[in-house]
Amino acid sequence: MRVLVVDDEKNIRDSLGKYLGLEGMKTRGAENGEAALAMLESESFDAVILDLRLPGMNGQEVLEQIEKRGISSPVIMMSAHGEIPDAVRALKRGAGDYLVKPFDPSELAIKLRALVENRRRENIVEARKRTTGSETMLLGQSPAMLGISRDIDRIACVDVTVLVTGESGTGKEVAAREIHARGPNRDEPFVAVNMGGIHEGLMESELFGHEKGSFTGAMGRKTGLFELAGGGVIFLDEIGEMSMPLQVKLLRVLQERKIRRLGGISDIPVKARIISATNRDPEAMVREGRLRGDLYYRLNVFRIVMPPLRERKEDIPLLAGHLLSQSGRPRYTVAPRAMEKLMSWSFPGNIRELENILERARIYCRDYVIQPEDIDLHGSPAAPVMSVPVVSAPVFPEPPSAPLPEEPPAVSPLDMVEKDAITRALAACGGNRTKAAELLGISRRTILNKIRIYGLK
Ligand SMILES: Nc1ncnc2c1ncn2[C@@H]1O[C@H](COP(=O)(O)OP(=O)(O)OP(=O)(O)O)[C@@H](O)[C@H]1O
Ligand SMILES: [Mg+2]
Repeated sequence: MRVLVVDDEKNIRDSLGKYLGLEGMKTRGAENGEAALAMLESESFDAVILDLRLPGMNGQEVLEQIEKRGISSPVIMMSAHGEIPDAVRALKRGAGDYLVKPFDPSELAIKLRALVENRRRENIVEARKRTTGSETMLLGQSPAMLGISRDIDRIACVDVTVLVTGESGTGKEVAAREIHARGPNRDEPFVAVNMGGIHEGLMESELFGHEKGSFTGAMGRKTGLFELAGGGVIFLDEIGEMSMPLQVKLLRVLQERKIRRLGGISDIPVKARIISATNRDPEAMVREGRLRGDLYYRLNVFRIVMPPLRERKEDIPLLAGHLLSQSGRPRYTVAPRAMEKLMSWSFPGNIRELENILERARIYCRDYVIQPEDIDLHGSPAAPVMSVPVVSAPVFPEPPSAPLPEEPPAVSPLDMVEKDAITRALAACGGNRTKAAELLGISRRTILNKIRIYGLK
């Protein structure tokens, strides 16, 4: 936790810094409001402790500026005894809490933690409100699914960017949620965004947020989904549907790991893990020029390919049992001959189609045992194999003013992905090659070889 202490008295900055250091927090000091604002705009702090009485701009004014500039760090005001009414006024103006000097530093630590925890909860609630999705666990005992489960275990604790591909309804989102659920930041939000879902202009403010008045119709300030995701996961769904301008913006975020609200003046670091998904063939899209190659390389650091249900039919009984048990009503079962009928179907719409078929079967079925005649395989408008954006995003030519440096094509695209994955794995394992090889599921010999070829350290 990083805290900015704003006080003109050096010994207060130092002693608070020391005390909070013992509490495991990192602090930086600023001696006046101007310095504090400059620091808040260039670095990210989890909280600010702000003295009410400061030379130059006073605490009240600094608070107003924090608010105005869209800095999201919560603030605790410090005041002297006679200034309590001012402190209360500050609370009304958006300060998170206040302390009257002299105070017990342990009280400060408690208030800081509460404030940061509160902010995190607010973000989770807000993120839930703005994204939808189920919370199913990844079920499956087939070799293919066990392999996927192992992959998820390997990467859950490593912050690599993951691309999940597979046909519609195969469980790409379920897999992404599972990565989040098995990772160390499972208590942070999981934010799902459909990249093809809304008009590109709106998408930008949805993702990055905006300041009041930054465009016509921007009534108040809005926090973007990247920011709301905090240290959790941002799931970029349907990346095959992104317009070119949006691709450029997303690439920047991946390169710089920071965002700026529309109309904002300060950068906000992106701490969330990025997982993306598409039911298209991303390599083909790159070849056809519909997906930027450089963006693809950044997204596809680790790849998970969800197998179609027809290639893992042994999972059908388990999935059917699970789906039927979710109805909450009396427990339905599938008669053996009905199960055979299911097992013989090809499921172009995959698990979502299985869900629909069972849903209808429950309606037809008379005694809670689903019979072959209850199963209507062809009557279902199976989930479309290709998903279509709600409103198709207009494709604009790339703005000439924003050229992006293409990565030099010294090595082939596939090599770049490999090199990137090895570099990240090495970093994640503190340079330990054996561990990095394990993480990537390759032999030690292979990794040593690749390290030499790519000239990695
Ligand atoms: N392994 C699984 N175990 C249990 N339920 C699953 C599993 N995989 C998928 N499902 C269920 O199937 C449905 C489709 O899954 P999901 O939305 O993750 O698919 P998708 O690949 O993202 O599809 P689309 O490309 O259409 O968005 C969901 O209702 C989900 O709960
Ligand atoms: Mg999906």
